[in-house]
Amino acid sequence: MKKHSILIAGGGSTFTPGIVMMLLDNMDRFPIDSLKLYDNDEERQAKLGRALKIVLTEKAPQIEFEYTTDPEKAFTNVDFVFAHIRSGKYRMRELDEKIPLAHNVVGQETCGPGGIAYGMRSIGDIVELIDFMEKYSPNAWMLNYSNPAAIVAEACRVLRPNSKILNICDMPVGTLRRMSQIVGLTPEDLEVKYFGLNHFGWWTSVKDHKGHEYLPEIRDYVAEHGYLTKVEVDTQHMDASWQATHKKAKDLLAIDPRFLPNTYLKYYLYPDYVVEESDPNYTRANEVMDGREKNVFSAAKRIVDAGTSSVGEFNIDSHASFIVDLARAIAFNTHERMLLIVPNNGAISNFDDDAMVEVPCIVGNDGPEPLAQGNIPMFQRGMMYEQVTVEKLAVQAWIEHDYQKLWQALSLSKTVPSAQVAKELLDDLVEANKEFWPELK
Ligand code: NAD
Ligand code: LMR
Repeated sequence: MKKHSILIAGGGSTFTPGIVMMLLDNMDRFPIDSLKLYDNDEERQAKLGRALKIVLTEKAPQIEFEYTTDPEKAFTNVDFVFAHIRSGKYRMRELDEKIPLAHNVVGQETCGPGGIAYGMRSIGDIVELIDFMEKYSPNAWMLNYSNPAAIVAEACRVLRPNSKILNICDMPVGTLRRMSQIVGLTPEDLEVKYFGLNHFGWWTSVKDHKGHEYLPEIRDYVAEHGYLTKVEVDTQHMDASWQATHKKAKDLLAIDPRFLPNTYLKYYLYPDYVVEESDPNYTRANEVMDGREKNVFSAAKRIVDAGTSSVGEFNIDSHASFIVDLARAIAFNTHERMLLIVPNNGAISNFDDDAMVEVPCIVGNDGPEPLAQGNIPMFQRGMMYEQVTVEKLAVQAWIEHDYQKLWQALSLSKTVPSAQVAKELLDDLVEANKEFWPELK
């Protein structure tokens, strides 16, 4: 079996150790001979890099390992770039959440004004990573988790239409794990139909391989409990705020019980509830910094201090398994079925060709082939049309440095009550993002 060479861009990410552990766990299905980390924050990355060096020396000394902040060293001779950078880091995520909340508007990493602000920071950085990849390893694929995936994907479609980048999201994978538990199966037992945008979609079918439809059974469960399940199958989405989100899916289902909703729809369908439930002084960014970030970096420190990996625990979750499965599908042409963010081009027949949508695709060595999902109903189509326009306006605003378009994007977002609030909010976001955004005219 061919051995591949992987670069993780955003080497200092809290998700890096999980992905490395997943790669080590999959050496029989997806062997690798080289693993590199790249980040633009040398100190942060080194904390994880030093620990992972110990892990790899002990568990897989045959893999060449290095971490670097030099793009040429990092991007040369790689087959896959797994990208998960956070432009502006947690300091800016916190502001993306807290600035909107100060205006009584949803404060979220990827949805509403916070997502737009994050998008305006991410676009340039992702394009830079693509350009490094194409310069130093022109045949490589980039599998990109960096958020906000919807805006990033639209920017890639417009700015780098021929690049080998696939934008992905782990939320549907995590929720499918929950669904499989609800019906007493494993996620591998199930095949889904799904349509929507990233963080904005609906399952229309959840069948086993024999063709039995489980959607009614899952719907009855979700109508009562949301996606809250008893055993921890979706280990990544376990914090208190996530439990509330899984539970809220019950109210998302109520508005159209034909389909199973993506949890992120709560920010668009119940924004007033979200604002009421949020603590403007302690948001998800704080929860992650006090939780996942502390846990991952203290595990790394324990390993480095002891000089052995036997003292520390890096966990594997659905986030890590999805990206490794996807790389494997491309590398070995497995034609696995996966949900990806791709140009619509008719996959949803009554939606625009040039919209980036999230639909099931068959993945092989040419990349994804989207599966036709047919016509979608008026309610979902209307919501999607509004949201995809927000995303397109944000990308155009970045490209053209256009204040007016960004104001329009915020005004159109279902999370923002008026153009007046949109403007006040935008002016605060411009001020906070001076270091990162293009100067708007
Ligand atoms: P993190 O802040 O722990 O890690 C991100 C790393 O990226 C940091 O080490 C930072 O220094 C680095 N970085 C920032 N800008 C960079 C640049 N221009 N070049 C190189 N490195 C850069 O963040 P995290 O919580 O681990 O999340 C990482 C990313 O993954 C975020 O974008 C997050 O939103 C995303 N994410 C996506 C999904 C999904 O399903 N798509 C799920 C979870 C997280
Ligand atoms: C994260 O930081 O985990 C996010 O990307 C998703 C979440 O849980 O807020």
